[in-house]
Amino acid sequence: MNHMNVEFTDYADTSYRLAEQKAAQYFASLYMQVMEKTYVPALTKDIQLWKRNHVRHHTWLSFFSRGKRKPDTRDYHRYIGWLDYMGKLDGYLDRSVSYIYMRDLGKALDSSETQTRIQHMVADIKSHLVHSTRANRGDQPEYMSLAGFYRWAQKEGIETAAIWVMDKLKDVSFHIPKEMNAEQSQRKLIKIIVGVVLHVIEEMDDETSPAERARRLDEAIRLGYSYGLTYPFIDDLLDSQVLTAGEKEQYSRMIRTALLTGFVPEISGWAGHNMDFIQYVHSELRDAFEYIKGLQRPETQKTFFEQSYVFFYSQDMDRAKNLSNANYTNEELYIPIILKSSSSRLIVRSVISAPKDEGFDDRTFFYGIYNQLADDFADMFDDRRDGAVTPYTYYLKYHKQRSDLINPYELYWTVISHLIHNVYQSDIKTREVILDRAINGLKRCKERLGTEKYNEIMEIFASGNPEFNRLIGQMVRKAEDVDFFDKLLRDQMNTLLKNDQREKEDFQDTIKTVRGQINNLLQIPKNNGISPMKEPLIDAANYSLEGDGKRIRPILTWVMGVNEYGLNASAIAPLLRSLEYMHTASLIFDDLPSQDNASTRRGRPTLHQVHNSATAELTGLFLIQKAINEQASLDKFDAKTVLSLMQYSAGKAEDMCMGQAMDLHSKGKALTLEQLNRMCFYKTGVAFEASLVMPAILAQVNEPEIAALKKFAYHAGIAFQIKDDLLDLEGDLLVLGKPARQDTQNNSSTFVSILGQEGARKEMWEHYCLAMEALKEVPRNIAFLKHLLNYMVNRER
Ligand code: IPE
Ligand code: IPE
Ligand code: MG
Ligand code: MG
Ligand code: MG
Repeated sequence: MNHMNVEFTDYADTSYRLAEQKAAQYFASLYMQVMEKTYVPALTKDIQLWKRNHVRHHTWLSFFSRGKRKPDTRDYHRYIGWLDYMGKLDGYLDRSVSYIYMRDLGKALDSSETQTRIQHMVADIKSHLVHSTRANRGDQPEYMSLAGFYRWAQKEGIETAAIWVMDKLKDVSFHIPKEMNAEQSQRKLIKIIVGVVLHVIEEMDDETSPAERARRLDEAIRLGYSYGLTYPFIDDLLDSQVLTAGEKEQYSRMIRTALLTGFVPEISGWAGHNMDFIQYVHSELRDAFEYIKGLQRPETQKTFFEQSYVFFYSQDMDRAKNLSNANYTNEELYIPIILKSSSSRLIVRSVISAPKDEGFDDRTFFYGIYNQLADDFADMFDDRRDGAVTPYTYYLKYHKQRSDLINPYELYWTVISHLIHNVYQSDIKTREVILDRAINGLKRCKERLGTEKYNEIMEIFASGNPEFNRLIGQMVRKAEDVDFFDKLLRDQMNTLLKNDQREKEDFQDTIKTVRGQINNLLQIPKNNGISPMKEPLIDAANYSLEGDGKRIRPILTWVMGVNEYGLNASAIAPLLRSLEYMHTASLIFDDLPSQDNASTRRGRPTLHQVHNSATAELTGLFLIQKAINEQASLDKFDAKTVLSLMQYSAGKAEDMCMGQAMDLHSKGKALTLEQLNRMCFYKTGVAFEASLVMPAILAQVNEPEIAALKKFAYHAGIAFQIKDDLLDLEGDLLVLGKPARQDTQNNSSTFVSILGQEGARKEMWEHYCLAMEALKEVPRNIAFLKHLLNYMVNRER
């Protein structure tokens, strides 16, 4: 180690020791209060005052006046609607936002400036909620979707950062090993990013110019991701079973070195099946580290490293504990917890290089353990199952033999009392919000565990103070208006991520099976007695069909036709063939020397390379006639319907020709966005439209629904072509199965050549949003279309 590093190590060590001392003092004071049970009289009084607003005496009249019954809180839109109807929405949002200001932003609620800000935020959220609850069909709140997020980013002018972070989140969940919980990692990351963004918003005011605001929000998103990564990739990874004990050791050492020296060491000495993963993690963390470091102001850099070190080291100490060790002292149990829970929040301000704020530091330092004890209480059984040491699991296991052990539930109430009276000076609003939260936590826990199990826990943890416990029990049963919006969001987000994951798996399964079935249909047979002179063209057509195509168009038709409209799969087989024949023909033409002049298609040499242009042209024509022939054999449907399908189809094929002609005529020309959109809709979008509309025609779906499908197809089709243009720039032959950089070579006018890579990405997401919005008008379960669209913009080939 060179001189500087030694110094660095010293002061990291010193800072840890200082932090530890502070935590020890805090713990000693809490310990005294637990021993003296000062929290009992203090909180009993607090609760007596608090309950006036939360426990109502029901008169017989109230049965009539209550009106609407309270809906299940999981029914997001109805629940918000109910709160609004009952006049409870303001109070609900007020306590929720106040809590966030206290916990996440470290504010004191008795400041009038903070109150003003809280009121503003409450008003903003309320108008948004009331509006969207009325407008929404009742599924997911739109700000929890990628489209909603992107729309917000557009409003703030930070599309680039939004696209960046969406790609990053996708990569993370792609790389997370299955032993870890990808959903949870994503949720945590999102939460941290939101937290950092909130901090940055809080640091700005009306004076901040829009450009400055955009710059800072852009940074906040990247900083949030960079800092947030430490959750899945340090803490969760070390908690999981992905790495062996030796690997964990090695990995921890690497992190420590980075924090102590300020430089991420090269990765070395890794082998085995975790190598790829670790390489990815290492490079992401290094980028993240460099990014945060690069934005630090000299005054905050030292604090940042110190706090990171304290955070990491206290987590490490905490993690090292073993449930089979019966001899931990209270200090050994609680001091690392005080440190890790506070530093995780303290660090956020230094991540964004915010100016020092003593009040924030103090409050946040004292606050951390409250949160930790609340979370650990809720997770106690999961933690016990996993053999994790938390104050509760440890107490459960050893309280009989260790009378010296502090009871974490009593400590929990002590912290609450300490916060209300010593940290927040008995402020009434603070008392209100903290008690709301505490009672709500127990209520939720009781609901989740069931009364019996809950009482069992209380028997163990709360038996020391029967009277206080009775009071709490009463509150848990009777208190109203203690629920929180962030909990609702969290539940909603969990359900959403879970459903989304399930739907995505369904989608992938469907794609896989249907693709298999379609591949089996495509071969053009050489019927008995066929003249050998006809064979070469059939062989050529089959050569092109056999290539490794994605078959998106017929898959779309199959899923809509069979799953949504209940058509018979074998009855629409001719339609499926016709779509893929038509599409394959368009590719054969597109690749010709007279058009894009491509040498590879679907992973094999193009048809004109294998034969010659004349054969390729004739095969294309042959496939188009085949397609029409197939359509004319849709004999399970009435003739008139089939005729209108064929007429529609011919019209779309004409459009495609025009699209290709526009494409070829615009080489080297600076098309307008409008011209680009039109060209891409014609050359590409119409085929998607046809895949959606043709089964709808056969199923005689009504006009408004068809119109909505067309709108979706329009935007999805253009998004698909923009992605194709981007892949031409970013992809490679082996993955794509067709040459990359072909557009540049041809001097073609594409979204990328006209708008640039960044501009093309933004335009793709714009169409993504428009397509998602169009889906709202389709009166069906559109999970498949939603995932198809996700797939279109995220695909690698
Ligand atoms: C390629 O379509 C032509 C475009 C419209 C960009 P696909 O990307 O669907 O090609 P295959 O069918 O999978 O080969
Ligand atoms: C072609 O667009 C669209 C067709 C319908 C053939 P591209 O020329 O960009 O398609 P690729 O990239 O060659 O597949
Ligand atoms: Mg082309
Ligand atoms: Mg081409
Ligand atoms: Mg292309």
